[in-house]
Amino acid sequence: MYKKLICYDDILSTLKTGKRVIYIDNSTIITPEAKEAISRFKIELRRRIMRKPIIAGNWKMHKTLKEAEELANGIRDSAGNLQDREIVLCPPFTALLTVKNAVSSSNIKVGAQDMFWEDEGAYTGEVSGKMLMDIGCEYVIIGHSERRKYFGENDQTVNKKVKKALDTGLTPIVCVGETLEEREKGITMSVVRKQVLDGLKEIEKEKAKNIVIAYEPVWAIGTGKTATPEQAQEVHAYIRKLLGEIWDNEIAENIRILYGGSIKPENIKDLMKEPDIDGGLVGGASLKADSFLKIIFYDE
Ligand code: 13P
Repeated sequence: MYKKLICYDDILSTLKTGKRVIYIDNSTIITPEAKEAISRFKIELRRRIMRKPIIAGNWKMHKTLKEAEELANGIRDSAGNLQDREIVLCPPFTALLTVKNAVSSSNIKVGAQDMFWEDEGAYTGEVSGKMLMDIGCEYVIIGHSERRKYFGENDQTVNKKVKKALDTGLTPIVCVGETLEEREKGITMSVVRKQVLDGLKEIEKEKAKNIVIAYEPVWAIGTGKTATPEQAQEVHAYIRKLLGEIWDNEIAENIRILYGGSIKPENIKDLMKEPDIDGGLVGGASLKADSFLKIIFYDE
């Protein structure tokens, strides 16, 4: 459980869930009654590492230029000056420059939905990281489950793209997540483990801190079925443990892990309370300024 003000009732609800850990940060206030109960019930207070949250909108194959510009303007006007969280808009390639221009004098960042692993060459239909950098893109989504499902991407192509993105200076948002069948078979963790280990193979420590991961259970994408905060937290904590095994704990504590899959204004707040959920990769609900802004301001 993570809260800014912790009172006696919070201790009781923590005990009811069977948990014995409460996360705190520097701004947490604990009432005297709660303090007494914490020591009486032997509850552990664990310091929450503060990573800057990212709220990213994956627009997928939506928006003409005019629509993209309108949406970007709407988000910029209300959320353009935020400093305590990063806002990233990921329109289709055709609208990247328009969106970049719309948000260029604000703090909002722009990301692409994919890239190729070569700088240039005879690769019809592809776009390189160098080209994305050229128009002011800072992020790139890599290995989204829709690309894995419809366009034959796999952990090996993901690995090549992640390496190239990092070498080019882009921040990759690397997507992993299990299908419904895999979850029902009870193999979620081994599926995610393979995606993380193979997708992030042979990346030097100094570059690793720039990686962002998005855990997107395939069964939650576009279905209206969100993972519960507990389900998501369990996988996020596991991914963070894996990152510690690949590099070290310090890197693992600094890498941001986003959740994605049917995020809505109604569920983002509880997801963001979990200690290992550092933001969201939002699909459908990022297509309207109104709902995306409610997600951006999840703590108000
Ligand atoms: P939805 O939010 O529409 O479920 O999509 C999630 C997603 O795939 C973001 O990349």
